[in-house]
Amino acid sequence: MAELIVALDVQTREDALAKVKEIGEAVGFYKIGLELFTAEGPDVVKAVRDLGKRIFLDLKFHDIPRTVERAVRSAGKLGVELLMVHSSGGRAMIAAAHEAAAEFGAAAPKILAVTVLTSLDRADLEDVGVCGRDPSVQVEAMAKFAAGCGADGLVCSPREVGALSAMLAKGTLFVTPGVRPAGSATGDQKRVATPADAVRDGATHLVVGRPILGAADPHLAALGVLKEMQN
Ligand code: C5P
Repeated sequence: MAELIVALDVQTREDALAKVKEIGEAVGFYKIGLELFTAEGPDVVKAVRDLGKRIFLDLKFHDIPRTVERAVRSAGKLGVELLMVHSSGGRAMIAAAHEAAAEFGAAAPKILAVTVLTSLDRADLEDVGVCGRDPSVQVEAMAKFAAGCGADGLVCSPREVGALSAMLAKGTLFVTPGVRPAGSATGDQKRVATPADAVRDGATHLVVGRPILGAADPHLAALGVLKEMQN
């Protein structure tokens, strides 16, 4: 059964804790990303954990291997379950992240590699020098590479998860942002799909932010996404 992770993209610890309480028991897993972590630091991770929630720390590490290794160690001490690195950081960086995580034994955070951000399309890839390649082709190449260097899973568009789950070993985690319940606004996401489609195609975790956080009733919105996931 795939899990729902709510992206806690708010600016303050107060807002974060209020949203988690508003959403309630329906959701047990939250993603803390750059916006909130930069504002509030590790304490906000501890505060959300203290509410009994599991954490995906999405700081998209991308640095030299030694720095990433140490950052993963720091994140492991916070008790986070999922961590994200950029696959474009290279083989040694991903391996260093994997090794640092493994030091935590049974509590080792899982290392997820992001391939191509779901906000990028073909024209955006051309801008950064990936020319004449569709995002899906680039995603497959980077996914195979990252999984081969020690990543436990991938963060990918729900449009690509079908091809990737068919290609990679069983047990690989597939975390998909860019999920939009039927009828909701896409915002800056360009390669979106519905919760039902993402689950059908092999996503193990769905990350949903604005459609839940921005809803008039975030609890009901979360239940709606969970229902769509079950369909
Ligand atoms: O609000 P929305 O549902 O678009 O939020 C998606 C979340 O997933 C954001 O926190 C965004 O930073 C993150 N994310 C993404 N695409 C990736 C990796 C992470 O949208 N490839």
